[in-house]
Amino acid sequence: MTRQIVSVVGGKEAASTTIYDSTNPADTAQVVARVGLADAATFAAACRTAKEAQREWAATPAPVRGRVIASIGRLVEANAEALARLVTEEIGKPYAESLGEVREIVDTCDFFLGEGRRLYGQTVPSEMPDKNLFTFRNPIGVAAVITAGNFPVAVPSWYLVPALLCGNAVVWKPAEYAAASAHAMYQLFAASGLPEGVLNVVFADGRQTFEGLETALTEGTVNKVGFTGSSEVGRKIGELCGRHLQSPCLELGGKNPMVIMPDADLDLAVEGALFAGFGTAGQRCTSLGTAIVHESVHAEFVERFTRALAEAEIGDPRGEVLAGPLLDQKFADTFEEFLTWVQPHHTVLTPQGRISAGNPRGSFTGEGGIYYHPTIVDGVKRGDRLFTEETFGPIVGVTTFSTLDEAIDLANLPGYGLSSSIYTTDPRSAFRFREGVSAGMVSVNNSTSGAEAHLPFGGNGKSGNGSRQSGMWVLDQFTRWQAMNWDHSGRLQKAQMDVAEITPDLDFRL
Ligand code: UN1
Repeated sequence: MTRQIVSVVGGKEAASTTIYDSTNPADTAQVVARVGLADAATFAAACRTAKEAQREWAATPAPVRGRVIASIGRLVEANAEALARLVTEEIGKPYAESLGEVREIVDTCDFFLGEGRRLYGQTVPSEMPDKNLFTFRNPIGVAAVITAGNFPVAVPSWYLVPALLCGNAVVWKPAEYAAASAHAMYQLFAASGLPEGVLNVVFADGRQTFEGLETALTEGTVNKVGFTGSSEVGRKIGELCGRHLQSPCLELGGKNPMVIMPDADLDLAVEGALFAGFGTAGQRCTSLGTAIVHESVHAEFVERFTRALAEAEIGDPRGEVLAGPLLDQKFADTFEEFLTWVQPHHTVLTPQGRISAGNPRGSFTGEGGIYYHPTIVDGVKRGDRLFTEETFGPIVGVTTFSTLDEAIDLANLPGYGLSSSIYTTDPRSAFRFREGVSAGMVSVNNSTSGAEAHLPFGGNGKSGNGSRQSGMWVLDQFTRWQAMNWDHSGRLQKAQMDVAEITPDLDFRL
């Protein structure tokens, strides 16, 4: 059954100008949803609608907003299997991972429902008597949230849930190729009783969204932009927001390193590298980029890693597989390009390219989908594109090092800084790595992917502008601190000038 979906603004279906078919990447003949795409004007109108609705929502007591978040969590939990099935159908994510993704929304709601009863401000002592100082967290206003489709529901929830809890209204622009999952999530949020206009979903292509966002920023109807996607688009959004004196919340690409020390438990490291590199078909922003392996264990690691990958199940994402297809044809096109970056000095340890009758894979359960051979490329070096650039998809580079300092240098070289990992049994190496690596997230004896929903998530360098999502840290994205001072002395007491002084004897010595 093909769903027909369109944008929803102020609780009503909005006009669309073009049609986009969101297909099942495991069975490209199946259209999962026929999506009406809106234009820039509709995006800008949605921001105006959100602005109108936001005032009343901000006036709703935060604990009451927290109850709405609680309801969203319950609704998502009660619909978890249906939503996970839809995610698998639309983007080809293995069902167990889709269920985990849905779990991440519930975790996020669990965290923030209580925040409705906190959203703490402070009382601060004044430098003068009969005067009190306070801080308050104020909602920002309207958040425009633009998300990728590799985590079509969990990552959006990292924006939507705290933004709404803090008293903001949201215009959400999901990835077109994950529109059905996004629409289903929108419906679950709407069923919580959120007032109309507080959450709006607009389906549009990148160009129309950018134009609509530019209009909205000029009209003053967007106060915060949240964007998850490529570093290239993130840079454009950063420029646009900067012109409007705004700092967006950017969650961009990664070239996530995994350092394998000579004292590492190699079986554990192989298991971690397998999931980090090829889980979600390597299409997480936290996916493993390069395994940086100590020269003394390189041969052994590579041998075990290649064997484990050959034995792994790839195929129908409804089954128990390590990886399914790529998310959408456009990712296959870019992946083909990444494969051309392989050079004569590299050793490709696996088959490569699209899985087909002429290019088969041993344990393969898929057919009719966009399936690629998971690929390991040994011998990548500093100057190689495969070493320095993000390669979204199932490809992992391997390189070697001799000292930890060299490994840290290699880990930082590509200039991203999202996730990272080290396998070692020596706490000194773990802490030296933590200190030296430029990544926002560090795993010790664990995969680069699989961050928990209540730690700060975000990156540095080409991975983002330093913003952090999740847990208490994201509150700084969706609120603005307001400082209040209240003088009840009945006279003007001038700060810094009318302050009592206690004179010390600074010449005193023992
Ligand atoms: C992403 O790929 O954009 O840490 C997010 C992880 C997941 C989230 C990934 N919890 O791998």
